[in-house]
Amino acid sequence: MVKSVVRGQASKELWEMAREFIPGATLHLRGLPDEVATVFVRGKGSRIWDVDGNEYIDYLIGAGPLILGHAHPAVVQAVKERLEMGSQFYQLTDVAIRLVKKIVEAVPCAEALKFTNSGNEATYVALRLARGYTGKPKILKFEGGYHGSHDYAAWSTTPSGPPNYPKGEPDSDGVPSVLGDRVLVAPFNNTDYVCSLIRQHKDELAAVIVEPFFRIIKPKPGFLEALRQNTKECGVLLVFDEVVTGFRIAWGGAQELYGVVPDLATLGKAIGGGFPVGAVVGPKEIMGRLDPALKPQGRYVMTSGTFSGNPITATAGLTTLNELEKPGTYDALRRSGERLKKGFKQVCDLLETPAQVLGEGPIVDILFTDEEIVDYRSTMRADQEKGRRVSIEMIKRGVFRPPGGKFYISKAHTDADLDETVNIFEAALRAAY
Ligand SMILES: Cc1ncc(COP(=O)(O)O)c(C=O)c1O
Repeated sequence: MVKSVVRGQASKELWEMAREFIPGATLHLRGLPDEVATVFVRGKGSRIWDVDGNEYIDYLIGAGPLILGHAHPAVVQAVKERLEMGSQFYQLTDVAIRLVKKIVEAVPCAEALKFTNSGNEATYVALRLARGYTGKPKILKFEGGYHGSHDYAAWSTTPSGPPNYPKGEPDSDGVPSVLGDRVLVAPFNNTDYVCSLIRQHKDELAAVIVEPFFRIIKPKPGFLEALRQNTKECGVLLVFDEVVTGFRIAWGGAQELYGVVPDLATLGKAIGGGFPVGAVVGPKEIMGRLDPALKPQGRYVMTSGTFSGNPITATAGLTTLNELEKPGTYDALRRSGERLKKGFKQVCDLLETPAQVLGEGPIVDILFTDEEIVDYRSTMRADQEKGRRVSIEMIKRGVFRPPGGKFYISKAHTDADLDETVNIFEAALRAAY
């Protein structure tokens, strides 16, 4: 039964307050469209509730971190107990060290780890580390790739102009224009072009940073392998941004799933169990440069944050990883992803709607186009307006996935949730015509 969400007075009043005091009435990159502008108050398992009491099946799950679902009992219990022991020391704690060990044992490229407070900071530190370690100034990123909003990352994430590779377009006012010469931009999955760019710029190129599963696009066979080989041959570090994919698409992340091991990787989201987190991992040889004792020798790469490795975050993260490590987790997540994709595909076929149903494991999305999606430009040629309308119509019917977002599936999503979502998708797609 497809229900209807009624945006009530409580949401409207709070939304007006937010509009007055918070630029764009959003805490993040995008606000909700007016029609579904809602304020949330509670989450449990696969569900969230707004301040008017409307219930939604949630596929945002905090932008990905809540891979066990909202307020997982083991995480809540562990955090409550830990809170009683004090929440912040700015020193090593037992639980932070144990979380480091767990991550290092799981992630193929990891021999050592430094925490940050966000994925943003993690990519910032990884790129600085790459420049410090190699002594070279440039980085290469992919058009449409998101690594946060800092000055080296905010290039050609959502370019509006035509491509002018390898020159990028700043995503924001205030990004230093000098960095336009330091950040090279290439189309994802274009092996020949990227490899020739790496070779051409090898004497100045510190790192190639890439989301190995690129937003919602799988790497073409051989693409990551070619990046690995060419960076290695050219003395350029390969950085996998696994803020999304780490502990989500496989226990050891995309590097385990795709069998390509980078030099450095950035992590976030899942490893914090719903609390602010980020991390850089890599071999001791490179990570060692983050040791403050090297400062007098002039070989130190600086990173610090008051809350880095915070014990509450580490407790939630360690509890989450302990749950994820239980046998069958990743098979179950993958089966859920396949079930949702199959359902979406059947609906699109039934309604004769050209669509690409994409994903990897428990990350799913639909783009309305009959063109194969291989990179940012092909993504942008899909029917964006239809995608937006369908998202809004789904929210109105109780499935929360904001326009422009992906469907993140958690361990808490049941087959019944997924099937209900497919029914609501069908109703939304009909309504969006
Ligand atoms: C691939 C990727 N890298 C980095 C980030 C930035 O992480 P955070 O939002 O925790 O700063 C994100 C955030 O969504 C991301 O998707």
